[in-house]
Amino acid sequence: MNGPERELAKAQRAHWQQTYGSHPGMYGQEPSAPVRHAATVFRASGSRNVLELGAGHGRDALFLAREGFIVQATDFSATGLEQLRQAARDQNVADQVSTMEHDVRTPLPLADASVDGVFAHMLLCMALSTKEIQAVVDEIRRVLRPGGSFVYTVRHTGDAHYGAGTAHGDDIYEHGGFAVHFFPRQLVDTLADGWTLAEVHAFEEGELPRRLWRVTQTLPR
Ligand SMILES: C[S@@+](CC[C@H](N)C(=O)[O-])C[C@H]1O[C@@H](n2cnc3c(N)ncnc32)[C@H](O)[C@@H]1O
Repeated sequence: MNGPERELAKAQRAHWQQTYGSHPGMYGQEPSAPVRHAATVFRASGSRNVLELGAGHGRDALFLAREGFIVQATDFSATGLEQLRQAARDQNVADQVSTMEHDVRTPLPLADASVDGVFAHMLLCMALSTKEIQAVVDEIRRVLRPGGSFVYTVRHTGDAHYGAGTAHGDDIYEHGGFAVHFFPRQLVDTLADGWTLAEVHAFEEGELPRRLWRVTQTLPR
């Protein structure tokens, strides 16, 4: 990471901490549409242990737990994860969810082939360089068991905010304090190298609306 990248990373972590602090449970408690799809994919491949990256305050991790999966939820915001743990206790699924404060710019502290499925909703499109995104996917590949699936979503270059606000280079734009790496389609294909790319599904979320792709890719057995 060079100097400006390090400064952006530090500022983004502080921004997410502050955002969850001032807007507890900001995404609501209803699960997202992509996590419902992910649960179907994970169930079809006989998954039990699921890792969520960028889980925030846990709307999706808690859904996966309620669906019977054992969930490891990670995020670099301790405030978001504290809200997740409280919600897990309130929903009586605390036994099925563990949390880990973790910045995806660093290796995952998990053993090779130790999880059955990985889910990440709007995490890879955070303020990560293309090189860092590739490194995250390489780590996911390492910890996922053969035949396991990775379901992720990202905002893409067709989003209304693409090109708006402060440009940080590498398709990263900061708008309202949130920095987003808008994905070109080529990046999705590059990240699927060595995987089976099962689908790239376009959808929208929220009021802007955010324009996203839901990507499902699976490791060979
Ligand atoms: C757009 S929010 C989505 C949260 C959650 N997936 C959801 O949909 O409810 C992105 C999340 O990624 C987390 N995040 C951003 N950069 C991160 C990083 N480098 N390492 C770990 N988490 C990160 C933020 O704290 C935030 O919780």
